[in-house]
Amino acid sequence: MGGGGEKEVLKKHIEDLREKIHYHNYRYYVLNEPEISDAEYDRLFQELEEREREYPDLITADSPTQRVGAEPLAEFGTYEHSVPMLSLNSVTAEEEVKDFDDRVRRMLGGEELEYVVEPKIDGLAMELIYEAGSFVVGSTRGDGYTGENITQNLKTIKTIPLRIFSDDAAPPLLEVRGEVFMPLSKFKELNEELGEKGEKMFANPRNAAAGSVRQLDPRVTASRPLDFFAYGVGRAEGKEFSTQWEVLDYLRRIGFKVNPLIRRFESIEKVITYHKEVEEKRDDLDYEIDGVVVKVNSIAQQDSLGAISRSPRWALAYKFPAREEFTKVNDILVQVGRTGALTPVAVLEPVQIAGVTVSRATLHNEDELRKKDVRIGDTVVVERAGDVIPEVVSVIKSKRTGVEKEFRMPERCPVCGADVFKEGPIVRCIGVSCSAQLKERIRHFASLRALNIEGLGEKLIEQLVDRKMVSDAADLFSLTKQALLKLERMGEKLAQNILDAIETSKETTFSRLLHAVGIRHVGEHTASLLADKFNDMDELRNARYEDLIRVPEIGPEVAKSILLFFEQESTKELLAKLERAGVRYEKKAREVGEGVERFLAGKTFVFTGRISLPREDAKSMVERLGGKVASSVSKKTDYVVAGEEAGSKFEQARKFGVKIITEEAFREMVKEA
Ligand code: IVH
Repeated sequence: MGGGGEKEVLKKHIEDLREKIHYHNYRYYVLNEPEISDAEYDRLFQELEEREREYPDLITADSPTQRVGAEPLAEFGTYEHSVPMLSLNSVTAEEEVKDFDDRVRRMLGGEELEYVVEPKIDGLAMELIYEAGSFVVGSTRGDGYTGENITQNLKTIKTIPLRIFSDDAAPPLLEVRGEVFMPLSKFKELNEELGEKGEKMFANPRNAAAGSVRQLDPRVTASRPLDFFAYGVGRAEGKEFSTQWEVLDYLRRIGFKVNPLIRRFESIEKVITYHKEVEEKRDDLDYEIDGVVVKVNSIAQQDSLGAISRSPRWALAYKFPAREEFTKVNDILVQVGRTGALTPVAVLEPVQIAGVTVSRATLHNEDELRKKDVRIGDTVVVERAGDVIPEVVSVIKSKRTGVEKEFRMPERCPVCGADVFKEGPIVRCIGVSCSAQLKERIRHFASLRALNIEGLGEKLIEQLVDRKMVSDAADLFSLTKQALLKLERMGEKLAQNILDAIETSKETTFSRLLHAVGIRHVGEHTASLLADKFNDMDELRNARYEDLIRVPEIGPEVAKSILLFFEQESTKELLAKLERAGVRYEKKAREVGEGVERFLAGKTFVFTGRISLPREDAKSMVERLGGKVASSVSKKTDYVVAGEEAGSKFEQARKFGVKIITEEAFREMVKEA
């Protein structure tokens, strides 16, 4: 046997590795149901990297190692869509939807028909080309005929398969269409981090996704939390589909993320009812939708209906009412954040926006405020997106009467009176013992995604700081029941609960603790990257600039900020106190990934009735441990957590024999972690 044979064996081995990595990537990112630990995944990945380093001629463009790493471009090329990417007619009124249905039925001469209803994702339409199963080109919609070639950037999105699954031979050519978007929670985090760095923030998740996907440097895109839902195909050689439903099913089977809220109905009335149902779910979703898309299911019927001027006659965007309202700015206040940043906030004449009363909106910083030219007394457009802080979109200048007052940022901290200094667009309080900063630091320390001290709310923190019962976050650990009982509205039981929660929080992970201590520029994501590379606080403290900068995604600014953090006297004190208090963390335990921490992997939960935990919190607790939360009960549901007044879901759980547990039992279960 010659060398050629060996190379063949090696090639096969590399192929196997890629296939495994591809599969586990899919389990993790698309299904949210990993089968192996992060450590195992990393081992596979490293092995592939090593082999490819040894044999660079065996690297393929669709190898999982090739997601990031392409060189920055000078400009994007263009890409011509072989089948135009149409746009949709959009309506908001029920009557107009019925008109659409009438028209469709009339044109089809009374044939039976079905509609597919899909959430309308508020992101950016993309086309992905797969040749013989491998991702080769990705482009934006552009004007529908020609888009930009942003292949390198789309490759960095983990839910876009570099290679599709197929039972037999992959189709020679497949054009997949769908929407790139940024999850709301990730958008909030990203904006916080950008704001912290004094960089330009994004107005909404859609802009954030657009700004991220159109970066000339794919490394920047890779660091942005983008996601993708597939919803259609362009050309598909060697594939015949007779319905949109089949298309979606196929896309799901070959490894794409397809929206779980997609449904089929045979009447327009049911479509209208479902539209309402989806609107009710809107706030529970971690991505923005601005309506539903209604599509005629049969492709033959679609073809016979055709299109007029760029919009198909067989589809309709049935939008939700806008989440924007006019209101008046009664005042502009300044809030002092955790790092001393002064944020101007508009105090609004309270206004209802899609069922929620809005009375404040952020103006981000002085530059933003100047750019929009918001004045006290102005009439403004305010937008609310999910549970993101409402935002002043624009000023209606024609409504000005001349009495509006311009706002100036204060020269001193409005809370502690210390001097402020300007750092880019951010004005900062330099006070070392500013009570506003301390309150925010403690709030952050105790928050759900940091040490998760339940019950330590804003009011309580305010009192603790104002009464000088704590002078840093670590002082929480020396609070006594006696001390707590002196606070307003504090009883024996509540005090004990808080002390218990504080005690529980001592057992944590390195990544959480790093996030909790509030190093500037180190958000949750960066904290987990650091926790991956360093075993404990001591290792991190002893790290040099060169060591830090070597961690993926960590740049000079973050590295410097970490060094600065450890130099502070207050840091030394804080860390010493935490250690004395007995705060322990699992070494190298990642938030998501390690087998021990993901013991809910593959388990599906449904919450029903009144429970005291906010749904979002309950959901993230489950997800943190690898589980999933569904909105309806099926045979596949593992647990139904039932609160008071649990209704039909409770009955269904009984019918299917699904395990029903109380909120207390649920809390016990997630506490184990
Ligand atoms: S189908 C011919 N389905 O809405 C059908 N579009 O104006 C063309 N969108 O550019 C699109 N979710 O960015 C379709 N489930 C969905 C969608 C969706 C969001 C966006 C897409 C498109 C725009 C239509």
